[in-house]
Amino acid sequence: MAADSTDENALPARAIQPEDVCGHSPLRASTFKLTGSLLQQSDHDEFDDPYSDDASSTASVSASILEYRTINGRTYHSNQGNAEYWGANDEPQNEALDIIHHVLTLLLDGKLHRAPIDSDIQKVLDVGTGTGLWAIDFGDTYPNAEVIGTDLSPIQPSWVPPNVSFQIDDCTQRWTFRPNTFDFIHIRWLFGSIVDWDELYREAFAALKPGGWIESHEASTQFRSDDGTVSEQTAMAQFGKFFAEGGEKLGRSMTIVEDGVQRRGIEAAGFENIHEENFKSPLGSWPADPKMKEMGKYQHLATANDLTGTLLYMGNLMGWQPEEIQIYAAKLRNEFKNPKIHGYYMQKIVWAQKPRK
Ligand SMILES: C[S@@+](CC[C@H](N)C(=O)[O-])C[C@H]1O[C@@H](n2cnc3c(N)ncnc32)[C@H](O)[C@@H]1O
Repeated sequence: MAADSTDENALPARAIQPEDVCGHSPLRASTFKLTGSLLQQSDHDEFDDPYSDDASSTASVSASILEYRTINGRTYHSNQGNAEYWGANDEPQNEALDIIHHVLTLLLDGKLHRAPIDSDIQKVLDVGTGTGLWAIDFGDTYPNAEVIGTDLSPIQPSWVPPNVSFQIDDCTQRWTFRPNTFDFIHIRWLFGSIVDWDELYREAFAALKPGGWIESHEASTQFRSDDGTVSEQTAMAQFGKFFAEGGEKLGRSMTIVEDGVQRRGIEAAGFENIHEENFKSPLGSWPADPKMKEMGKYQHLATANDLTGTLLYMGNLMGWQPEEIQIYAAKLRNEFKNPKIHGYYMQKIVWAQKPRK
């Protein structure tokens, strides 16, 4: 793939496949389950035990989950209680998520986590799994682990390793997993999706076994530079403000990294052995360091691949006209291509352990 051809008009003629960026081999059809919060009323009589596996395994993807909302031709997850996610769930946005998974794997030098989990780890949950590539790669790396990925949208591939499955679930509802179930819970890039992060971490704490690990990986939407090239006047400098304002309007903060939400919430939930690492993530091929250059090229590809899908929901929410969004997207695209602009954004990973006793 030509990583420099990030102009939307210059994208590859064929759709980018997960194999292009991850190299995993598809093995079997994934299974989708609906968990408690998303079951239709008529299914509720099977719900005597809120933690029963049977209760969550009866339904296949129901028509209502596929009734996507549409804004200017782009689709978004179906109405599910109070859940509200600002990203589209169609092909262009899903391709962008696949490429970002590659960027995030490069960030960790090919690793999938920071938490010091056992090599024979048994049960793993990936909350808000998106297109499911992290869960699939994790299942490939730890073939003895049972990996469950949950999301609002059934956008995961049909063929996955036998130890990986996906469930349609709103993580902001009360969790239906039995307490003390998981050895590892992974939560990545849910900024702008969660009203109450403390509650999310409390649910994760309850669902983890004593001694189990949580890992929370979030990104800032604020582009910065160390040399002043992302100046106040640039469209890139407005990007973080656009999303911060949109997140406020949505009631789901986008400034998770800036506000230290992860560490505070994880500590408050009762975790111990807390670790934190902060990373710079470049956009564009400007860095001299080969790893950063590679990350920057793919980040450029992912971001420019579907800028409209990224901006549309928030823009619409803030009363922007579609033409205004297109003009802003064009400005951003030009700056992304400009090698004199040395932009990056921050990412933060916090990992911690549930006390053994
Ligand atoms: C930016 S994507 C990140 C996907 C994946 N975690 C990754 O890092 O590749 C955010 C995902 O969170 C999902 N999401 C948002 N709100 C959610 C909720 N309340 N419950 C479950 N999933 C949610 C979205 O549908 C989307 O797939």
